[in-house]
Amino acid sequence: VKFKQLQIENFLAITEATIAMADRGLCLIQGENQDDTSADSNGAGKSSIADALCWALYGTTARGVSGDDVINDKAGKGCMVGVRIEDGADTFIIRRHRKHKTGKNSVTIVQLDFAKPGVETDLTLGTDRLTQDRIDKIIGCPYEVFRAAVYAGQEQMPDLPAMTDKQLKLLLEEAAGVSLLEEAYADARKRLAAKTELYDKGVAHISRIESNQVAELARLSTIQASETKWQTEQTAKIDYIKREIADLREKIIAADKAYDTTRLPAIESALAEISKKVSGIKEEKGKLSIMDKAVADAVLKEASFNSDITRSRNIVAKEKGNLSKVHSEIGCPCPECARPLTAVEVEPRQKVIEVRIAEERAKIERLKQRQEDAHKVTQKLADERNVFSASMTDATVMLNQQASLMREKQNLRDQLGRMGDQRRLAVTKLDAMKALIAEKNPYSDMIAGTNAMCNALRDELDAAQKAQKVRSRDMEIAKSVAKVFSPAGVRAHILDEITPFLNGQTAKYLGALSDGNISATWSTLSRTTKGELRERFVIEVENTKGAKSFHGLSGGEKRKVRIACALALQDLVARRAVKPIELFIGDEIDDALDGHGLERLMGILEEKAMERGSVFVISHRSLRDWISNMLLVVKTDKGSTVEEVAL
Ligand SMILES: Nc1ncnc2c1ncn2[C@@H]1O[C@H](COP(=O)(O)OP(=O)(O)O)[C@@H](O)[C@H]1O
Ligand SMILES: [Mg+2]
Repeated sequence: VKFKQLQIENFLAITEATIAMADRGLCLIQGENQDDTSADSNGAGKSSIADALCWALYGTTARGVSGDDVINDKAGKGCMVGVRIEDGADTFIIRRHRKHKTGKNSVTIVQLDFAKPGVETDLTLGTDRLTQDRIDKIIGCPYEVFRAAVYAGQEQMPDLPAMTDKQLKLLLEEAAGVSLLEEAYADARKRLAAKTELYDKGVAHISRIESNQVAELARLSTIQASETKWQTEQTAKIDYIKREIADLREKIIAADKAYDTTRLPAIESALAEISKKVSGIKEEKGKLSIMDKAVADAVLKEASFNSDITRSRNIVAKEKGNLSKVHSEIGCPCPECARPLTAVEVEPRQKVIEVRIAEERAKIERLKQRQEDAHKVTQKLADERNVFSASMTDATVMLNQQASLMREKQNLRDQLGRMGDQRRLAVTKLDAMKALIAEKNPYSDMIAGTNAMCNALRDELDAAQKAQKVRSRDMEIAKSVAKVFSPAGVRAHILDEITPFLNGQTAKYLGALSDGNISATWSTLSRTTKGELRERFVIEVENTKGAKSFHGLSGGEKRKVRIACALALQDLVARRAVKPIELFIGDEIDDALDGHGLERLMGILEEKAMERGSVFVISHRSLRDWISNMLLVVKTDKGSTVEEVAL
């Protein structure tokens, strides 16, 4: 970074100045106080120039003045300091204002384009703070480093040897550009954290898959056990039904064997025969009953003669009575003539009666004959009937036989029925067995599903583990990167590198300033009592002819050490790869140096100016013997202005 031009308006003592700052070699800033002759050059406004640069860049001055106090008293307003900066091909102008007509209290950055002269691109950001960050980036150097390595203020010459480890570390890291590594380190750690998170997520993912796998395998073995159990039970069921079927078969075969197929038809024909016979018996019975009737009729007919005979006998008896009556009338008066009736007179009547009796008796005889005939018929019919009856078939035997055959037939039918039942049962059982054999193990599908799940999980695990390998490698790389940028990594390496450089430069400057009596040694790393490397920033100072520490040195010696250390640090800032700063301002750097020391310092600064471009030395002493390039700050009652003086 080159500071090309400084433009000052109403800043501290300076009313107005435009100063070219780049590639000036060794340049002396001297003052002339025409306002106060007693003050010689003091108070002319020399330091105000350096402070103007510092204020423009950082908003604060080496002397600690800020706010409205920086405005030139006489002007009271319109304070502005502009710095034109070249960084490679880019040119920026930083302008800081205080009570400025247009700029108010703002700080602005513009970029210039060589292709379009006069065109300024505004890079100012929303807040001064953001704009300041942008400025720090452009300069590539924070305030502390600027103060320690670029602008050694008059009163605040950086007391590097007296600095604490922490302060020195900050300065050195900034000066060496290591703080950039800090950002890189933060980035690397962020990346590492991201990679670690991914890795951890991967671990969690894998363990989730693994636990799923364990669960799934457990499920699988449970289902497999169930499958086996089902199969065993199923086999037992099939075996049982098989045995049942075998038993049935045996029974059926035995029953078949035992069953006489000829028997039922035989029974049927026997029964048919019996049936026929039984119907014959009916006919016989019919005939018998007809004969019975004939016998009964004959008996009736025979008996029917009895009444006729009885009537005829009664008539005979009555007539016998009549005869005796008529006989008894002999000698009895005639009813008509009342003379006694003679035997002759009554005889006719007796004769009639006697004829009648004889007739009746003949009738009886005839009737008896006929009855006798009828009886003979009856006898004959009864004999015939008895003969027929005796010849009739015996039904009891037949019926017994029939009943027995029927029973046997029923038994055979039952037997056939049972055999049919058994056959049907056997068929049913056979079907059931077939169904059992055909039945699919319900766990098989589940096992297939679970197996598929296990396989999928295994594949998933493989993929996850592969991915995890990549993540692990990524994480290891990120770790290595972080390690590289860590304090123990490149930072330590760089700090380790810069130490010899700083020591070399310091020794060079201190040797020149002190004739080699005083040594100042920078160290950035030290070993602990355990021998571990640890960052420790310190400048150890020793006077071979006296004090063993910085504090024991005289004021002049201390100043020499401070100058040497500051110059060495400036060299470090100037030479670092990122944004070297090609400027050094030593304000009253010659103070407290004797003539000899002054001469040596001037030699050193001249060399430095040749190497670095511009070195400004502010001094109230006349150093014209050594410096040919000079800015003269002239203070009048109107304020201070700056003149270029060619010597
Ligand atoms: N705001 C200001 N306006 C005008 N003059 C100021 C202001 N602040 C300080 N001064 C004066 O400027 C002078 C200091 O200028 P400085 O640059 O330190 O002088 P030098 O370095 O040449 O001795 C002093 O006389 C001081 O009173
Ligand atoms: Mg001064």
